[in-house]
Amino acid sequence: MTLLLDDQSVAQRIFDHIDNRTTDRSEASWREPVENYRCQRRFTAEIERVLRRYPTPFCPSAALAESGSYVARDAAGAPILAVRGSDGRARAFRNACRHRGAQLADGAGCQKAFVCSYHGWTYGLDGRLRHVPHEDGFPGLDKSARGLAPVETSEMSGLVFVTQDEPRPDKAPLNDPRLVDLHELIAPGQRLLATTEQDVAANWKIVVEGFLEGYHIRSTHRETFYPIQFDNLNVVETFGRNSRIAFPYQRINKLRDLPPAERNVDGMLTYVYHLFPNTVVATFPNNIALVVVEPLAIDRSKLITYTLTDRGDHDIDGLEAVNRSRDFLQAGTVEDRDVAVAVQRGLQSGANQFFEFGHFEGAISHFHRSLDAALDEQ
Ligand code: FES
Ligand SMILES: [Fe+2]
Repeated sequence: MTLLLDDQSVAQRIFDHIDNRTTDRSEASWREPVENYRCQRRFTAEIERVLRRYPTPFCPSAALAESGSYVARDAAGAPILAVRGSDGRARAFRNACRHRGAQLADGAGCQKAFVCSYHGWTYGLDGRLRHVPHEDGFPGLDKSARGLAPVETSEMSGLVFVTQDEPRPDKAPLNDPRLVDLHELIAPGQRLLATTEQDVAANWKIVVEGFLEGYHIRSTHRETFYPIQFDNLNVVETFGRNSRIAFPYQRINKLRDLPPAERNVDGMLTYVYHLFPNTVVATFPNNIALVVVEPLAIDRSKLITYTLTDRGDHDIDGLEAVNRSRDFLQAGTVEDRDVAVAVQRGLQSGANQFFEFGHFEGAISHFHRSLDAALDEQ
């Protein structure tokens, strides 16, 4: 059983909203103190007590396509290395040599072992320390105790989740049965097409908020999304600390003539899944994107976007369509980035004591409520 609506029910709700000129409304609005975006102590607490302690999508499974495939990047400010072992398991480690701490890998690639560039200590794909040059310089070295430091890793829904510090099994969204229902979120046929990174001069929460409502479609995306979508017409659901927002395209109206059971919403709407706290999975007609909002500083973030597609290497038309839709999305993303930066600048003005999220911005209220609750846990 799932707490998320099936596609047909989402489509019906969208038709009702179109007919009635309505949208989903949350029960309450939310006032978030501006101080929560400006306080360094709060920022540190968010990183240390939430981002590092929740199972967070690190990369798509498709980024670790074969034995030896790895992704190395900072997650919540700490360098992490995820790699697919020869046994097929995805594992993640703290990305630092156990000799004198040099980082072992950067970016992505595929290799049989990790050789430290400083003195050549060599680790297997399972993290074991396999070779130490001139080992006689370290009498009594227990190699079995000096493997790469592991972090808890699990793989589900086509995503590799890592939990850096002291996982909270009872509270973890990963163990929430409602998340398990997302087993097909990224289907096995999806492959990684591109990974891109962009810096945004805004607090990570401001960037996340931009994904979670459709109230800004006409104002922010007048020339890009608005002509093909709707302004302020969404289906908003929450599950655990996560949420899902459906953004329909106008062409969804074509489905009205079909019997409900035959209404396939693929390509007719974008689902944005907010996986608490700082990642989003968004579905598009030709691709799926996993976006990680990595906090760099209280007023700076990095957007890491993994683009996936189920189109084959030789499907030229399909790949062209994917690229067209990526370019189009890119234009909308730039607009979102600009408003995030504008909000960050406005933060410094002192004009607001709080930001008010109204009834159309319920997924954002849910995010802040969840973040407060996560910070309050012990
Ligand atoms: S720091 Fe890695 S081998 Fe010395
Ligand atoms: Fe937007």
